[in-house]
Amino acid sequence: MSIIIDKNSWVLEMDSCAYALGLSPNGYLTHRYWGPRLQHADDYPLPKDPDEEDSFNLPENRRLLEYPTAEGADYRDPCLCIRFQDGVRDVRLRFVDAEAEQDKDILKIHLTDLSYELHVILCYQIHSRYDLIERWVEIYQEGMKPIDVSRIFSSIWHLPDLETYRLSYTSGKWADEMKMHHEILGPGKKVLASRRLITGHNGNPWFALDDGTATEYTGKVWFGTVAWSGNWKTIAEISENQMLQILSGINDWDFNWQLQPGERFTTPHAIGGFSSEGFHEASQKMHDYVREEYLPHGKITRKILYNSWEATTFDVDVHSQIALAKNAAEMGVELFVLDDGWFNRRNDDRAGLGDWWPDEKKFPEGLTPLIDEVKKLGMDFGLWIEPEMVNPDSDLYRLHPDWVIHFPGLDRTLARNQLILNLAKNEVQEYLISVLDKLLSENDIRFIKWDMNRNVSEPGWPDASGDARELWVRYTMGVYHVWQTLRQRHPNIIFQSCSGGGGRVDLGIMKYADQVWPSDNTEASARLCIQENYLQLFPAATMESWVTDQNEAVIPLAFRFHVSMCGVLGIGGNIANWSDTEREEAKHWISEYKKYREIIHWGDRYLLRSAVEYAVSAVLYISQDQQNGVLFAFRTYCAEPVETPTIYPRGLAANQLYEIVGQIKSGSAWEEVGIRLSLSNFSSVLIPINRI
Ligand code: GLA
Repeated sequence: MSIIIDKNSWVLEMDSCAYALGLSPNGYLTHRYWGPRLQHADDYPLPKDPDEEDSFNLPENRRLLEYPTAEGADYRDPCLCIRFQDGVRDVRLRFVDAEAEQDKDILKIHLTDLSYELHVILCYQIHSRYDLIERWVEIYQEGMKPIDVSRIFSSIWHLPDLETYRLSYTSGKWADEMKMHHEILGPGKKVLASRRLITGHNGNPWFALDDGTATEYTGKVWFGTVAWSGNWKTIAEISENQMLQILSGINDWDFNWQLQPGERFTTPHAIGGFSSEGFHEASQKMHDYVREEYLPHGKITRKILYNSWEATTFDVDVHSQIALAKNAAEMGVELFVLDDGWFNRRNDDRAGLGDWWPDEKKFPEGLTPLIDEVKKLGMDFGLWIEPEMVNPDSDLYRLHPDWVIHFPGLDRTLARNQLILNLAKNEVQEYLISVLDKLLSENDIRFIKWDMNRNVSEPGWPDASGDARELWVRYTMGVYHVWQTLRQRHPNIIFQSCSGGGGRVDLGIMKYADQVWPSDNTEASARLCIQENYLQLFPAATMESWVTDQNEAVIPLAFRFHVSMCGVLGIGGNIANWSDTEREEAKHWISEYKKYREIIHWGDRYLLRSAVEYAVSAVLYISQDQQNGVLFAFRTYCAEPVETPTIYPRGLAANQLYEIVGQIKSGSAWEEVGIRLSLSNFSSVLIPINRI
């Protein structure tokens, strides 16, 4: 049994970790434990009521509540803030009962406010094999009048009492996403957030915590995220008692939800996990869970794609695309994706967004002639769209200028010459569903790249029927609704999430999109670092990576291929200009990739030497049965003289024999003696690993 119940105490046991909670003697729902699984159910600490320290520190200021609200004399950040109709702003939730759905590994705990008809259900689902806990909160009220919910987070995680707390998180900006930080926390709060309407290039709801000593392969690491593609917020707080709590969920900035009597609100789901073997195991658990249980199409083979954006930008037409498609097919590409520029009057970024039908000049007979040709060449056809956007110069905007997010009377700030359609509105959702459904029904499209190329400004919703600040959440719900409806109607289409590169990379969107585009930066040496950090958070099977012409004078084609082969391989260069030799080489790497892609996507990944830290880096992928693997090693630039360091493989079966670089040794011997390589500046190798 994985949910152990003992009166009003619960232990959620997973394969190698556990989480415990229970009612304190005074009746508070209290956190007890999160860490390695212990031998017996009664090994876990009992819920405690803290004593009063002094009149400035009442017991509630040190309680480890499972879902703290704005209440009483607790001054740490709460998860729930509400204003009742009579102006009261204290929420006093108390335990009612709990139900365990053992077959689904779900525990639900019901809480009710002491004075108002407000009910909160804390939901926990455990994913034992991955040591992950999924948490979400449902809230409803049975009063006579609406209440204002100004904050409702998905989770709070309490960490054990550690000497030091170190927070790991990512930051970035457009074309420079996924920079990893490891920061020792002091007293007070560290707040990470997006208020851009989307997840954002600037950060990600993922976080990890350790005592400052964890490494890639050692030490305890607690980690978590929120499956949400809109404004998010994470608050890590060290209280005056030196305890750390970390809260996360929908950003409460400019947020208010008017909860009507009888209405139910469910938060996005948060996920938390624990690893006792460093950051590697933390990422591996997340990878396994996401690819085995989460992605819409599960473990289907990722097709090698060609994308025409960097080759032709907006200058596309049926002839140029057919020419590229022929080149791509000869190299072994399996999916041809037509990017921006194909739709009505789209010759640059100043017009067309919103009018999702083929441009008559570029595609006089529609997309069919191109699609037929692509299919004849043995490839699938994919298409770029940016449904949430509109150019003022478009038929759609001329017809419905009130459909965009705006404040009446204020200028509408353009970014990339576009405005954002208000997907909180039902009629906008319905319009997009109908126009995109038509596009997908009339054309044999197997892949959609869904883009989103700006952040919000003037976040107004003038004709909202309720509180216009619900926009922040209803917009994201609208995006999910449109996406979900299209997926239901066209279940075989594979979606890619893109937002000017990595602006929308999160577990929320991965319910809909099997692949994402981590960055518009396709320069291979920059990409190495972006990819390394991306892979801490998400699996390689979701990470698209194209071989392009960026920095081609310095970075050889093989290096560019090797970098892209570490994820879902794509080609994005102007292959029409590639020489015969380059095309032959591309053909070679594509056929090599076909040998290894199942290992790269569904095997285990081991970071052997970090590209963020060193000019010489290496990564190894090995099948989960430890049979076959592939090792990539890279050297970017470092001044001579330099000796390439020994690379030590990992993940091999200790007693089995492996052939690597022409020699046979046991797995443990390889891990001990390593592999000597000789790499010059901007060179790389692909090394097969085969069990004998
Ligand atoms: C964004 C994407 C690019 C490309 C362009 C097209 O920037 O990230 O890959 O699709 O839009 O306008």
